[in-house]
Amino acid sequence: MKALWFSVLPCLFLLLACLALAEEGLEFPSFDGKDRVIDINDRNYKKALKRYDMLCLLYHEPLSSNKELQKQYQMTELVLELAAQVLEDKDIGFGMVDSQDDSKVAKKLGLEEEGSVYIFKNERVIEFDGELSADTLVEFLLDLLEDPVELISNALELRAFDRMEEETRLIGYFKGEDSEYFRAFQEAAEHFQPYIKFFGTFDKGVAKELTLKMNEVDFYEPFMDEPVTIPGKPHSEEDIVEFVTAHRRPTLRKLRAEDMFETWEDDMEGIHIVAFAEEEDPDGFEFLEILKEVARDNTNNPDLSIVWIDPDDFPLLTTYWEKTFKVDLFKPQIGVVNVTDADSVWLSMPDDEDLPSAEELEDWIEDVLSGKVNTEDDDEDVIAVADDDDDDDDIDDFDDEDDEDEEEDVDN
Ligand SMILES: *[C@@H]1O[C@H](CO)[C@@H](O)[C@H](O)[C@H]1NC(C)=O
Repeated sequence: MKALWFSVLPCLFLLLACLALAEEGLEFPSFDGKDRVIDINDRNYKKALKRYDMLCLLYHEPLSSNKELQKQYQMTELVLELAAQVLEDKDIGFGMVDSQDDSKVAKKLGLEEEGSVYIFKNERVIEFDGELSADTLVEFLLDLLEDPVELISNALELRAFDRMEEETRLIGYFKGEDSEYFRAFQEAAEHFQPYIKFFGTFDKGVAKELTLKMNEVDFYEPFMDEPVTIPGKPHSEEDIVEFVTAHRRPTLRKLRAEDMFETWEDDMEGIHIVAFAEEEDPDGFEFLEILKEVARDNTNNPDLSIVWIDPDDFPLLTTYWEKTFKVDLFKPQIGVVNVTDADSVWLSMPDDEDLPSAEELEDWIEDVLSGKVNTEDDDEDVIAVADDDDDDDDIDDFDDEDDEDEEEDVDN
């Protein structure tokens, strides 16, 4: 499915990389020219695996003769070099694996998706499926170096936990470090680190605040007021892994740089309901509150998962999609996108009208889920975004347009 981003949104990836590098100029040192990334091959991969606490490998296509693709390749390599430089004092190795020249190694290591970064930590392989920029990758790797379970032992830490409403998170109450159930919880946490946050407490007061009994684990879906208690305590590692796996797709989730591709791959039978809302903007904030209300009312509907994109976090993606979909995405919008052909339909929100109510939004979502509103046949209640007669041409046009933009970006 990453292919979609490369085919329908072919230049987005490169644009993001450019932007990320430009932004990094502020916080990141510039590349000092020292080569730290290992060219992984049949002879050196075992040694590399042994030598570091963590090994971070980019699995990539063979180097192409196409100049654009070569540039993209260099850019990607630079992201890895920069990350390696910034994390020099950590015990992390960085390497590149060529899908053609090193196909044997790739097979042995279980690398499958070209363009993905795989991290080897202890016996585990973690796929990084996020925006390939040095800052996002560095943050991801630093999170992976942390303990899989963060302990909460006082009111201050509990308040910080309460404020993490955008995160899928779990918290359990255990007797202490040596408790076998705490160890099972830790083992389970490693399966989801760093995407899903695991917290633990040994403190009676904290447990009381959270109404947790001994060995009980609560699961918090993003933006929900109340957690769900995982039934059948005490839990084995497998119990927790199974529960989280079954419940991990939230009703409303925020698109994050660290797993944007993974989120996109997790579509609902070929579509995504996408909402744009800028949290810092009053209208965006209000729309987000309505979205949360709808999500809370429909949390038990397994067919519903809304992806919220804050244009502040993804200005380039938003601009790109605006061009593609011909909708003003810097104001509150909600629409359906077909992940295969990027065709879309947006809920009509004229400028001079109020935002839709939670009820109106729910009705629209119901129509989307029942197929009444879809990207294939556009009815009168919705704005048809792409012209019906030349959808395909549209997409081609945008590609061309973007090639030009990209040239400018690269030259600057
Ligand atoms: C998405 O688009 C493809 C190609 O146009 C089409 O075959 C498919 O039915 C669409 N999916 C949905 C859910 O509308």
